[in-house]
Amino acid sequence: MGERGTLPRGCRRCDFDYDRRREPMTITMTAARPRATGYPGYNTTHPCVGEAAAAARRLVRTACATWGLEGHAEIGALIISELVANAVRHTTSHSIRVIVDRPAATQLRLAVVDKDPYALPVLRFPGDEDERGRGLLLVDRLSERWGCDVLGSAVRPWGKRSWAELRIAGGPDNARSPV
Ligand SMILES: Nc1ncnc2c1ncn2[C@@H]1O[C@H](COP(=O)(O)OP(=O)(O)OP(=O)(O)O)[C@@H](O)[C@H]1O
Ligand SMILES: [Mg+2]
Repeated sequence: MGERGTLPRGCRRCDFDYDRRREPMTITMTAARPRATGYPGYNTTHPCVGEAAAAARRLVRTACATWGLEGHAEIGALIISELVANAVRHTTSHSIRVIVDRPAATQLRLAVVDKDPYALPVLRFPGDEDERGRGLLLVDRLSERWGCDVLGSAVRPWGKRSWAELRIAGGPDNARSPV
Protein backbone atom coordinates (compact mmCIF):
# COMPACT_ATOMS: atom_id res chain seq x y z
CA MET A 1 0.00 0.00 0.00
CA GLY A 2 1.23 3.47 -0.78
CA GLU A 3 2.20 5.96 1.84
CA ARG A 4 -1.14 7.66 1.55
CA GLY A 5 -3.83 5.21 0.59
CA THR A 6 -6.65 6.13 -1.71
CA LEU A 7 -10.00 6.24 -0.01
CA PRO A 8 -12.57 3.85 -1.45
CA ARG A 9 -15.26 5.22 -3.72
CA GLY A 10 -18.17 6.52 -1.70
CA CYS A 11 -16.05 6.98 1.41
CA ARG A 12 -16.66 10.19 3.26
CA ARG A 13 -14.68 11.94 5.86
CA CYS A 14 -16.69 12.54 8.97
CA ASP A 15 -16.51 13.91 12.43
CA PHE A 16 -18.46 11.97 15.00
CA ASP A 17 -19.09 13.37 18.41
CA TYR A 18 -18.23 10.66 20.87
CA ASP A 19 -18.51 12.83 23.93
CA ARG A 20 -21.13 10.79 25.74
CA ARG A 21 -21.20 13.15 28.68
CA ARG A 22 -22.91 15.73 26.55
CA GLU A 23 -25.46 13.65 24.66
CA PRO A 24 -25.35 9.93 25.35
CA MET A 25 -27.97 8.79 22.89
CA THR A 26 -27.30 10.80 19.78
CA ILE A 27 -24.84 10.72 16.97
CA THR A 28 -23.73 13.69 14.95
CA MET A 29 -21.88 13.63 11.70
CA THR A 30 -20.40 16.49 9.79
CA ALA A 31 -18.90 15.54 6.49
CA ALA A 32 -15.40 16.78 5.67
CA ARG A 33 -14.93 18.65 8.92
CA PRO A 34 -11.69 17.92 10.73
CA ARG A 35 -11.70 17.47 14.47
CA ALA A 36 -9.98 19.90 16.74
CA THR A 37 -7.21 17.31 16.90
CA GLY A 38 -6.78 17.69 13.14
CA TYR A 39 -7.64 14.05 12.40
CA PRO A 40 -10.86 13.66 10.44
CA GLY A 41 -12.42 10.20 10.55
CA TYR A 42 -13.59 8.05 7.67
CA ASN A 43 -16.75 6.11 7.13
CA THR A 44 -18.36 3.96 4.49
CA THR A 45 -21.82 2.47 4.27
CA HIS A 46 -22.38 -1.09 3.07
CA PRO A 47 -25.12 -3.66 2.74
CA CYS A 48 -25.08 -5.78 5.88
CA VAL A 49 -23.55 -8.85 4.25
CA GLY A 50 -20.35 -10.79 4.78
CA GLU A 51 -18.63 -9.12 1.84
CA ALA A 52 -18.67 -5.83 3.74
CA ALA A 53 -15.85 -7.14 5.92
CA ALA A 54 -13.34 -6.90 3.08
CA ALA A 55 -14.30 -3.31 2.36
CA ALA A 56 -14.08 -2.52 6.08
CA ARG A 57 -10.59 -3.97 6.26
CA ARG A 58 -9.54 -1.90 3.27
CA LEU A 59 -10.87 1.24 4.92
CA VAL A 60 -8.93 0.50 8.10
CA ARG A 61 -5.72 -0.11 6.17
CA THR A 62 -6.19 3.00 4.08
CA ALA A 63 -6.94 5.21 7.07
CA CYS A 64 -3.98 3.78 8.98
CA ALA A 65 -1.70 4.44 6.02
CA THR A 66 -3.03 7.97 5.75
CA TRP A 67 -2.24 8.59 9.41
CA GLY A 68 1.13 6.87 9.35
CA LEU A 69 -0.16 4.08 11.58
CA GLU A 70 0.62 1.09 9.40
CA GLY A 71 1.73 -0.81 12.49
CA HIS A 72 -1.85 -0.82 13.74
CA ALA A 73 -3.49 -1.77 10.48
CA GLU A 74 -3.56 -5.56 10.89
CA ILE A 75 -5.00 -5.55 14.38
CA GLY A 76 -7.43 -2.85 13.31
CA ALA A 77 -8.49 -4.99 10.35
CA LEU A 78 -8.97 -7.98 12.62
CA ILE A 79 -11.14 -6.01 15.00
CA ILE A 80 -13.29 -4.45 12.31
CA SER A 81 -13.76 -7.91 10.77
CA GLU A 82 -15.27 -9.16 14.01
CA LEU A 83 -17.51 -6.12 14.43
CA VAL A 84 -18.81 -6.43 10.88
CA ALA A 85 -19.29 -10.18 11.24
CA ASN A 86 -21.35 -9.59 14.35
CA ALA A 87 -23.61 -7.07 12.67
CA VAL A 88 -24.12 -9.51 9.80
CA ARG A 89 -24.72 -12.53 12.01
CA HIS A 90 -26.67 -11.10 14.89
CA THR A 91 -28.84 -8.35 13.41
CA THR A 92 -31.43 -7.94 10.70
CA SER A 93 -30.01 -4.57 9.72
CA HIS A 94 -29.98 -4.04 5.95
CA SER A 95 -26.99 -1.75 6.03
CA ILE A 96 -24.05 -0.92 8.26
CA ARG A 97 -21.71 1.99 8.55
CA VAL A 98 -18.05 1.30 9.10
CA ILE A 99 -16.14 4.05 10.89
CA VAL A 100 -12.42 4.50 11.34
CA ASP A 101 -11.63 7.48 13.46
CA ARG A 102 -8.79 9.16 15.28
CA PRO A 103 -10.47 11.03 18.14
CA ALA A 104 -7.07 11.86 19.61
CA ALA A 105 -3.49 11.45 18.55
CA THR A 106 -3.17 8.45 20.84
CA GLN A 107 -6.43 6.75 19.86
CA LEU A 108 -7.54 4.74 16.86
CA ARG A 109 -11.23 4.04 17.00
CA LEU A 110 -13.01 1.41 14.94
CA ALA A 111 -16.77 1.15 14.87
CA VAL A 112 -19.69 -0.44 13.10
CA VAL A 113 -23.15 1.07 13.22
CA ASP A 114 -26.10 -1.25 12.66
CA LYS A 115 -29.80 -0.61 12.85
CA ASP A 116 -30.71 -3.04 15.61
CA PRO A 117 -30.83 -1.18 18.92
CA TYR A 118 -32.24 -4.08 20.91
CA ALA A 119 -29.80 -6.96 20.51
CA LEU A 120 -26.50 -5.90 22.06
CA PRO A 121 -23.00 -7.34 22.10
CA VAL A 122 -22.26 -9.58 25.08
CA LEU A 123 -18.82 -10.87 25.99
CA ARG A 124 -18.96 -14.66 26.11
CA PHE A 125 -16.54 -17.14 27.57
CA PRO A 126 -16.79 -20.20 25.35
CA GLY A 127 -15.62 -23.61 26.46
CA ASP A 128 -13.25 -25.75 24.47
CA GLU A 129 -16.10 -27.42 22.65
CA ASP A 130 -17.92 -24.24 21.75
CA GLU A 131 -17.49 -23.22 18.16
CA ARG A 132 -18.65 -19.64 18.58
CA GLY A 133 -18.44 -16.79 21.02
CA ARG A 134 -14.82 -15.80 20.48
CA GLY A 135 -15.15 -12.71 18.33
CA LEU A 136 -15.65 -10.19 21.12
CA LEU A 137 -13.16 -12.00 23.27
CA LEU A 138 -10.63 -11.30 20.56
CA VAL A 139 -11.73 -7.67 20.37
CA ASP A 140 -11.49 -7.43 24.14
CA ARG A 141 -7.96 -8.76 24.19
CA LEU A 142 -6.70 -6.75 21.25
CA SER A 143 -8.19 -3.38 22.10
CA GLU A 144 -7.65 -1.00 24.95
CA ARG A 145 -11.39 -0.73 25.44
CA TRP A 146 -14.56 -1.48 23.56
CA GLY A 147 -18.24 -0.90 23.93
CA CYS A 148 -21.57 -0.23 22.34
CA ASP A 149 -23.67 2.94 22.21
CA VAL A 150 -27.38 2.82 21.48
CA LEU A 151 -28.26 5.49 18.93
CA GLY A 152 -31.39 7.57 18.76
CA SER A 153 -33.56 8.86 21.55
CA ALA A 154 -34.41 6.83 24.64
CA VAL A 155 -37.96 6.36 23.42
CA ARG A 156 -37.06 5.81 19.79
CA PRO A 157 -33.69 4.12 19.42
CA TRP A 158 -32.80 3.32 15.84
CA GLY A 159 -29.52 1.49 16.03
CA LYS A 160 -26.27 1.04 17.81
CA ARG A 161 -22.58 1.61 17.36
CA SER A 162 -20.25 -1.18 18.39
CA TRP A 163 -16.73 0.13 18.78
CA ALA A 164 -13.23 -0.63 19.95
CA GLU A 165 -10.24 1.60 20.58
CA LEU A 166 -6.57 0.96 20.11
CA ARG A 167 -4.02 3.00 21.97
CA ILE A 168 -1.30 4.53 19.88
CA ALA A 169 1.88 4.62 21.87
CA GLY A 170 3.95 7.71 21.50
CA GLY A 171 1.05 9.96 20.55
CA PRO A 172 1.79 12.80 18.21
CA ASP A 173 5.45 11.93 17.84
CA ASN A 174 4.45 8.56 16.45
CA ALA A 175 2.25 10.00 13.75
CA ARG A 176 2.74 12.00 10.63
CA SER A 177 1.18 15.40 10.28
CA PRO A 178 -2.60 15.35 10.63
CA VAL A 179 -4.50 15.07 7.36
N1 LIG B 1 -23.77 -6.29 16.56
C1 LIG B 1 -24.40 -7.16 17.39
N2 LIG B 1 -25.74 -7.16 17.48
C2 LIG B 1 -26.39 -8.00 18.31
N3 LIG B 1 -25.77 -8.91 19.10
C3 LIG B 1 -24.43 -8.95 19.06
C4 LIG B 1 -23.68 -8.10 18.20
N4 LIG B 1 -22.37 -8.38 18.38
C5 LIG B 1 -22.32 -9.36 19.28
N5 LIG B 1 -23.54 -9.71 19.69
C6 LIG B 1 -23.87 -10.71 20.74
O1 LIG B 1 -22.71 -10.94 21.48
C7 LIG B 1 -22.37 -12.32 21.46
C8 LIG B 1 -20.89 -12.50 21.46
O2 LIG B 1 -20.33 -12.09 20.22
P1 LIG B 1 -19.03 -12.83 19.71
O3 LIG B 1 -18.58 -12.11 18.50
O4 LIG B 1 -18.06 -12.94 20.83
O5 LIG B 1 -19.51 -14.30 19.38
P2 LIG B 1 -20.28 -14.86 18.11
O6 LIG B 1 -20.46 -13.82 17.10
O7 LIG B 1 -21.51 -15.51 18.63
O8 LIG B 1 -19.30 -15.99 17.58
P3 LIG B 1 -17.92 -15.82 16.78
O9 LIG B 1 -17.60 -14.37 16.74
O10 LIG B 1 -16.92 -16.61 17.56
O11 LIG B 1 -18.20 -16.38 15.43
C9 LIG B 1 -23.05 -12.88 20.23
O12 LIG B 1 -23.32 -14.26 20.39
C10 LIG B 1 -24.32 -12.04 20.19
O13 LIG B 1 -25.29 -12.57 21.06
MG1 LIG C 1 -18.82 -12.73 16.46
